[in-house]
Amino acid sequence: MVRVSLWQSLWQRLYRGFDDLLSPWRSLDESPAVALLDPPALALYRRMAKPDRRHSLRLLERLRQEGHEHPDLLVAALLHDCGKAATPLRVWHRTLKVLMRRLAPTWWAHLAAPAPPGHWRYAFFVLEHHPCLGAAWAATAGCSPLTVWLIAHHETDPDPSDPRAGLMVALQAADAAS
Ligand SMILES: [Fe+2]
Ligand SMILES: [Fe+2]
Repeated sequence: MVRVSLWQSLWQRLYRGFDDLLSPWRSLDESPAVALLDPPALALYRRMAKPDRRHSLRLLERLRQEGHEHPDLLVAALLHDCGKAATPLRVWHRTLKVLMRRLAPTWWAHLAAPAPPGHWRYAFFVLEHHPCLGAAWAATAGCSPLTVWLIAHHETDPDPSDPRAGLMVALQAADAAS
């Protein structure tokens, strides 16, 4: 994982929160996603909330600017957070995750433990487990095993000896910066 300070994480979250609030009034050019994704994957991308789609497009653009062209990586860039579409997520849910993961990880683990849809903790469960939820959906949508792996593990440290680690590091760095 890319290590950033709590303040950097909070600043990033506040920036994205501000983006969330302005999102309904801001246009979004989604042509890069339309050009890159097959219909089932595009349908999955479109399930995401607009701020998450905007974040994914920024990530894709950043990877391309850095010269990355691997199609499985680029698809993962667009879909890495698709599991968050399992339930509506508010800015305060996302901010609480950033704070509690750093400051009270044991409490966060309890808050984000498995919970059924409709339960008051379900949003926290989704936030914590969106990589696995999204990877399962991506597999069902016919994404490649490499894309599915990148989505499933995008919030955990890759094994440096894994030949796929370089792609994961690129994805995680762009995710942290986007
Ligand atoms: Fe994520
Ligand atoms: Fe992300």
